Amino acid sequence: MAHLSINPDLLSTLKDKVVVLTGGATGIGRSTVKLFYQHGAKIIFGDVADVHGTSLEKELGSERAVFIHCDTTSYSSQLNLFKTAIQKWGRIDIAVANAGISLPADPFSPDADIEKEFSTAEIDVNLKGPLITSRIGLHFLRKNGREGGDLILVSSIAGWKECTGLVAYTASKHGVVGIMRGLHLSAVKEGVRINVICPWMTKTGMVKGIERGWKEQGLPENEPEDVGKAIVLCATANRGDGKHKGAVTPFAGKIVWVAGGESYEIEDNLQRLEPEWLGKENAEVLKRGQDFLMAEGTSWDTAKAKN
Ligand SMILES: NC(=O)c1ccc[n+]([C@@H]2O[C@H](COP(=O)([O-])OP(=O)(O)OC[C@H]3O[C@@H](n4cnc5c(N)ncnc54)[C@H](O)[C@@H]3O)[C@@H](O)[C@H]2O)c1
Repeated sequence: MAHLSINPDLLSTLKDKVVVLTGGATGIGRSTVKLFYQHGAKIIFGDVADVHGTSLEKELGSERAVFIHCDTTSYSSQLNLFKTAIQKWGRIDIAVANAGISLPADPFSPDADIEKEFSTAEIDVNLKGPLITSRIGLHFLRKNGREGGDLILVSSIAGWKECTGLVAYTASKHGVVGIMRGLHLSAVKEGVRINVICPWMTKTGMVKGIERGWKEQGLPENEPEDVGKAIVLCATANRGDGKHKGAVTPFAGKIVWVAGGESYEIEDNLQRLEPEWLGKENAEVLKRGQDFLMAEGTSWDTAKAKN
């Protein structure tokens, strides 16, 4: 596990960078928009919460912070978000898939009515949304040539840990880690770094149900800005000459857990210790399989496969 902290020298690399972010009206997204703005970036942010989105645009001024109504479950709505950035500033350097919801009523509870269909909105917003952001984001980020681009996906502690009572949410957030694992190795060859943020308890509207009990337990909490800093860390880790403390470069394919206001990279050790938890022989044969799947000429599409 690597403890990460921001090297302030890298923050100036955000000047005039173009950021597209979803779910920017409240909570973590709102704090992240402000951080990018403070460091000189230009931001298009989308959300369904128009009143909060418009108020943030007003607070920052629409020259460098533009709010667009965007429902991330709609492909055309996200396309419009990204195209607005292109029309306005001609390029996109950083894309952040942050919009998310959680539905606290548990459809798996013993007293849930089996006759009633349950909502799968968490899958739509938390998984389909980031899939769309990733596809459109990659399309524009890969155009940046040598400078490359950064795609940052906001998952959750529920992206890698048990999370009782939030089944669909947990499945959706595991899926967000899956987007990174499915896309990162090919994207990095095109200069696009994909990293995932997994916040633990963060004081936003989303955690109202557990906030009081959590505090009574004395458990660690994040301010929304702490998660925003982790997003900014990912967006700047490969820019400029310096390094963020604890960050290996290229900083890509990483999972950053944010807990008690601190950021920790956890994916590298999971990969490094694979022979230990999977067994040496299994790890070796798995590597051969992975090498085959990544080789030139291997494709899941029979029309393209040469191997
Ligand atoms: N707060 C936490 O403890 C915590 C922990 C882990 C992960 N997260 C994740 O962080 C992200 C931000 O959540 P938050 O805690 O700031 O909560 P939040 O509710 O304050 O922010 C979520 C934002 O997403 C927007 N949104 C919801 N559905 C949308 C849609 N279809 N299209 C566009 N925007 C939509 C909301 O209007 C809101 O502004 C989410 O992905 C969430 O799952 C939060």
